[in-house]
Amino acid sequence: MKRIGMLTSGGDCQALNAAMRGVVKALSENVDELEVYGFLNGYKGLIYGDYRLLTAKDFSGILTKGGTILGSSRQPFKLMRTPDANGLDKVAAMKQTYYKLSLDCLVILGGNGTQKTANLLREEGLNIIHLPKTIDNDIYGTDVTFGFQSAINIATDAIDCIHTTAASHNRVFIVEVMGHKVGWLTLYAGIAGGADIILLPEIPYDIDKVIEAIDKRTRQGKGFTILAVAEGAISKADADLSKKAYKEKKANAKYPSVSYEIADQILQKAGVEVRVTVPGHTQRGGSPCPYDRVLCTRLGSAAAKAILDEDYGYMIGMVNGKTKRIPLGDVAGKLKMVDPDSQMIKEAKRTGISFGD
Ligand code: F6P
Repeated sequence: MKRIGMLTSGGDCQALNAAMRGVVKALSENVDELEVYGFLNGYKGLIYGDYRLLTAKDFSGILTKGGTILGSSRQPFKLMRTPDANGLDKVAAMKQTYYKLSLDCLVILGGNGTQKTANLLREEGLNIIHLPKTIDNDIYGTDVTFGFQSAINIATDAIDCIHTTAASHNRVFIVEVMGHKVGWLTLYAGIAGGADIILLPEIPYDIDKVIEAIDKRTRQGKGFTILAVAEGAISKADADLSKKAYKEKKANAKYPSVSYEIADQILQKAGVEVRVTVPGHTQRGGSPCPYDRVLCTRLGSAAAKAILDEDYGYMIGMVNGKTKRIPLGDVAGKLKMVDPDSQMIKEAKRTGISFGD
């Protein structure tokens, strides 16, 4: 008999259901009796005891379904130790729910913030298994996160579509790709979509270099230019500001996002009109791609094996093509960022892609 809890927290992505299905399928094949408590809307469900008792049947037919059957919400890690509006101690409440249901383990699917709370619960003595979800691919210790490939496909499709219209009209276009802190998604979709300029949070840009790259294409007789710009792209000048000054600048910004600021600067400085396209949350939506379905089935199955072994306190990651138990304490709170000096960036630059630096 196994009694597990499960929750999905933070921004959703395409393959959350596929991952939960992997866990439950592998467990139900290998234990006589299984009870799955699905906590609704992320940590909220665990804090307030809002859950549904699910069976293996509930996880059938969801491999291809986007979103999460459990719902999700953002519960910032930094507020976990702060009592709620009614003075409730959230950590104590989560522990109480866990012990009341006599859970063997809690399977937590989520990104960086979610992982920090998962580690906190581990430190508090709960049996935790974490599965690395995010379209941002920024979780330290795993080569890849689920959701990333599916999001690359959508962002690449967006760039492909913009390509044909940009070429017809000889226009400069910005496609803004999700990712406030890291640029993995923009980097992959940018290269896959044949973007001419890629701007990432990890490589602060100089607007004059960006304009130079557009001019170079014009001189080469290419009438259009595509920029793939991460939500968190930052200019060299802004990168030099203190954190506080940058926050203030953003709070008072007249532009809805960095892409509009860049577009305006290009217009002001070079007289070139730039169109901005923001695919936004479409990048997290729809069905998971086949790669993510396979990844999630493997990660889910490996998570089930850890539960069968009663070996807890890990993120189940993918390292060099193999699933691996990675101690949560070793990775929680760390971000995996694009290395500006990496082979991939150098190779992209060699093909003529400008990173605005
Ligand atoms: O972390 C996933 C992500 O989609 C980021 O790429 C993006 O910056 C952020 O979430 C958007 O958050 P929200 O859905 O809360 O607007």
